[in-house]
Amino acid sequence: MIIAVDGPAASGKGTIARAIAAHFGLPLLDTGLLYRAVGMATVRAGGDPDVEDDALKACQFDNAALADPALRSEAAGGLASRVSVHPKVRAALLKRQRDFAGQPGGAVLDGRDIGTVIVPSADAKLYVTASAEVRARRRQLEDYDRDYPAILAEILARDERDASRADAPMRRADDADLLDTSDLSVDDAVQRAIAIVEARLRR
Ligand code: DC
Repeated sequence: MIIAVDGPAASGKGTIARAIAAHFGLPLLDTGLLYRAVGMATVRAGGDPDVEDDALKACQFDNAALADPALRSEAAGGLASRVSVHPKVRAALLKRQRDFAGQPGGAVLDGRDIGTVIVPSADAKLYVTASAEVRARRRQLEDYDRDYPAILAEILARDERDASRADAPMRRADDADLLDTSDLSVDDAVQRAIAIVEARLRR
């Protein structure tokens, strides 16, 4: 059983994907971490994240690199979004994601293009979203040092880049169930997500 969870930054998709994986006893791959690892490795090697071949050189890393806490920073998220526009980078990370999805018993993957490109045949697809204002407030609660307008601007810029790139843009698959978490508590969002997936799997 393969479950795809897509959506924009700070929509709650990571928390929801973790809860779904625990509920169904499936392994989870946060695919954003792969792009974050490439973005950070590109810069650390002195490369330019906007230059495709620089980013491509950073695509060979082992899974241990994904445990680096620095990958969780907002800066790493921005670098990830920049390297993720390059088709060669997306191609280099494709097999890793499909292999993970194809393991016996299945998996949960969360990202931007899981339901549309990585595993279009997923058994259940969830597109998790929330208004940009709510997502910026959530980010601000995690980081009181940053002011709201700057965070909102960053979120809007990331949405725009992720949704407008030519290769595998962020979008809801036609057959994905939509979950808007703007007005939901974390617990309610998680419960609703699990209920939606269970209903989909019964169909
Ligand atoms: O989910 P995240 O915030 O960790 O993702 C960071 C960036 O990586 C995101 O802005 C775009 C890119 N990304 C992608 O292009 N495709 C994915 N499947 C996951 C992430």
